[in-house]
Amino acid sequence: MLEPKRTNNRNRGFYVRMRLLHNNSRNVRTSEKSFCYRYFKWVLWFSLSFYFFASFLFNHKPNNTISFISKTTVSQSKASRALIESINSSALLQYPKHHQDSLNGLKIYVYELPTKYNSDWLTNERCSNHLFASEVAIHRALLNSDVRTFDPWEADFFFVPVYVSCNFSTVNGFPAIGHARSLIGSAVELISSQFPFWNRSLGSDHVFVASHDFGACFHTLEDVAMADGIPEILRNSIILQTFGVKYDHPCQRAEHVVIPPYVSPESVRKTLATSDVNGKRDIFAFFRGKMEVHPNNVSGRYYSKKVRTVILQKYGNDRRFYLKRHRFAGYQSEILRSTFCLCPLGWAPWSPRLVESVVLGCVPVIIADGIELPFSSAVPWADISVTVAEKDVGKLGSILEHVAATNLSIIQQKLWDPRITRSLLFHDRTVEGDATWQVLHALTQKLSMSHRRSRVSNE
Ligand SMILES: *[C@@H]1O[C@H](CO)[C@@H](O)[C@H](O)[C@H]1NC(C)=O
Ligand SMILES: *[C@@H]1O[C@H](CO)[C@@H](O)[C@H](O)[C@H]1NC(C)=O
Ligand SMILES: *[C@@H]1O[C@H](CO)[C@@H](O)[C@H](O)[C@H]1NC(C)=O
Ligand SMILES: *[C@@H]1O[C@H](CO)[C@@H](O)[C@H](O)[C@H]1NC(C)=O
Ligand SMILES: *[C@@H]1O[C@H](CO)[C@@H](O)[C@H](O)[C@H]1NC(C)=O
Repeated sequence: MLEPKRTNNRNRGFYVRMRLLHNNSRNVRTSEKSFCYRYFKWVLWFSLSFYFFASFLFNHKPNNTISFISKTTVSQSKASRALIESINSSALLQYPKHHQDSLNGLKIYVYELPTKYNSDWLTNERCSNHLFASEVAIHRALLNSDVRTFDPWEADFFFVPVYVSCNFSTVNGFPAIGHARSLIGSAVELISSQFPFWNRSLGSDHVFVASHDFGACFHTLEDVAMADGIPEILRNSIILQTFGVKYDHPCQRAEHVVIPPYVSPESVRKTLATSDVNGKRDIFAFFRGKMEVHPNNVSGRYYSKKVRTVILQKYGNDRRFYLKRHRFAGYQSEILRSTFCLCPLGWAPWSPRLVESVVLGCVPVIIADGIELPFSSAVPWADISVTVAEKDVGKLGSILEHVAATNLSIIQQKLWDPRITRSLLFHDRTVEGDATWQVLHALTQKLSMSHRRSRVSNE
């Protein structure tokens, strides 16, 4: 395998490049102060609004329209103490500067690809905000991160920033991902011909984001996705993907990290800011989204395995359930008003509702057999959610009533931990414990795949 010495022409080009980049980095540093300041203001604002929001919830027992909920509300003094402890625990306000300490000195090189692979797509504002936008968010966070290195020779991992989810269909507005394989393929061709790093490890220390229904299989329909599999060229690499199941599946037959779907922290902040301060969790169980009355048989499969159809049939007229089939821009405020938020599978098991309900304090009700949830080392999913088997969806009403009558307040207390909220949101500038940080932390567990680290440890 070709491994150029540091003196050849290609590397001279590389040092010029580095100098240029370092000039940039100085600019980045001067703007860093105002960045920190802005960020700190945001954190402070968030902790305050969280405080007001959460203390309201703790201090006001829900209205008795649903009497069994009020029975289980935690006692006021205990709750306020827990709340103050969680606010005063350094969890939310701590602003760690030295990521390296907690991330085992991790260093990541971010390839600078021609803009057609990434930033050109940002002309459409939706590109950096929709549910697949973690491909943009992680790239941005890495560019700003302390783990970024400008010297690829000292990098443990290489990040390949290709945005494949922003070619929105002019027909239905959904991302068309038919071009994903060729776009990524051409990016890999480029980096493997211009840099020595891909060839020396066969891509095993290269990191990609594949935030679609079935990850790097790049197809919405599971049977097609499974038949196509992960492109050959990516199979050695590390894939950050929203798709995850606990059983063997062709779309996770590559080293991978399960990441949360993208929810814009700004949208959450806005919802909290504009929400009615006197708001109550007056909705018992909430779902807004596609629910087909007569689901089509699409190549042998039904949307959401008909789970959503059963929910609609069984609970469409049940007053405890607030079920809506149409899009509504203000749906986050509905989540804020809800006690339980249903997170049934769609085509794939995961859904953005998982994140939205957690960060807005609504207990997620996960109906997606075998789903592997993101960042299980940081988020105690079993303690903060309710899981209902797909086959039991017809008993949802009694299951949720039982939870409300027994352990709802315990679940809510654990759910309203700001550290959990933070771990599921991607910020442009990563802070310890946030979603990008969790990704970095997961990568430190995979250092054996790093060409550089394995060589260093062999020496
Ligand atoms: C938390 O509260 C204690 C006193 O109860 C105080 O000494 C400490 O500085 C507080 N920590 C933060 C991060 O506010
Ligand atoms: C975007 O998607 C359309 C429809 O699938 C496709 O024809 C087009 O080639 C794609 N654009 C790019 C730049 O890949
Ligand atoms: C990496 O391998 C490919 C295929 O063997 C080759 O075309 C390419 O030139 C190699 N890259 C470098 C930098 O040598
Ligand atoms: C669904 O379609 C597949 C073929 O596309 C067919 O084999 C299967 O019998 C159909 N199922 C039902 C319930 O109609
Ligand atoms: C709450 O109760 C349900 C039903 O009894 C149980 O399955 C679940 O594990 C409990 N959850 C927590 C966090 O205690």
